[in-house]
Amino acid sequence: MSLIKKAVFPVAGLGTRFLPATKANPKEMMPVVDKPLIQYAVEEAIEAGITEMIFVTSSAKRAIEDHFDKNYEMEAELEKKGKHELLALLRGIVPKGISCVYIRQPEALGLGHAVLCAKPVVGNEPFAVLLADDLIDGHDRGVVRQMVNLYGEYHCSILGVEEVPASDTDKYGIVSTGNDDGEVANITNIIEKPKPVQAPSNLAVVGRYLLTPRIFDFLERTHKGSGGEIQLTDAIAELLAEEKVLAYRFKGKRYDCGSKLGYLQATVEYALKHPDLKDAFAAYLAGVKG
Ligand code: G1P
Repeated sequence: MSLIKKAVFPVAGLGTRFLPATKANPKEMMPVVDKPLIQYAVEEAIEAGITEMIFVTSSAKRAIEDHFDKNYEMEAELEKKGKHELLALLRGIVPKGISCVYIRQPEALGLGHAVLCAKPVVGNEPFAVLLADDLIDGHDRGVVRQMVNLYGEYHCSILGVEEVPASDTDKYGIVSTGNDDGEVANITNIIEKPKPVQAPSNLAVVGRYLLTPRIFDFLERTHKGSGGEIQLTDAIAELLAEEKVLAYRFKGKRYDCGSKLGYLQATVEYALKHPDLKDAFAAYLAGVKG
């Protein structure tokens, strides 16, 4: 049984960077090849042994609930037509033993506020947070699995980090570290979206967190910060004074699917690995380049 049983998926954000595509459809439902971003994140959590998926959602995001719910009509139709493979694919979206909980974030007050909305369901146990627009192709195992293994060793909060270009620090939570062994480091400070000249490093937090429940006490007291929002980063900065928090350079490739370029890169690279598509798509791409 995994030491971490619950994962929070903050999915209430507006997704304005992909308008008009995200006017009526949640950005988390955008597909990379044939699967919505949010399903990749849920699969990563399941692979890590997490069994309770907590979505912090909003009125515009009903498609996410429908995606993880049973679709009787479609299942009946597939059954009638004898399309058993597709039926199994639909039924496998939420495997047995996995439950989904939905909490509304009434106002878009920021990532920290979204995580705080999950407090009544998370309770007093460590939990994961996954941001679906950071799609990460883990090397031999998913990043959350890697982090849960590390949690078994250190029993403290752990943030997934990677080096970003110095010019991009104002897009991320940026950490300062000590005791760095090249893979795991102690976080000594964290700051949300610093301008490149103010950034203490170029080590950025990407959308994977394992947090102890103590974070909720700090989130309750966190005021609006960067962008006028209640920032998870600011609560983590407070948590640091009391508990050890580690930065973990995960093994895997991250695609920033919150940006058009990152989304397209993910689409191309996942298509080149897709069992049914890879050969035809590689041949097509060779033609485009040539
Ligand atoms: C959020 C966090 C930021 C983190 C980033 C990772 O920012 O606030 O600290 O580095 O996710 O993707 P957002 O991308 O929602 O603006």
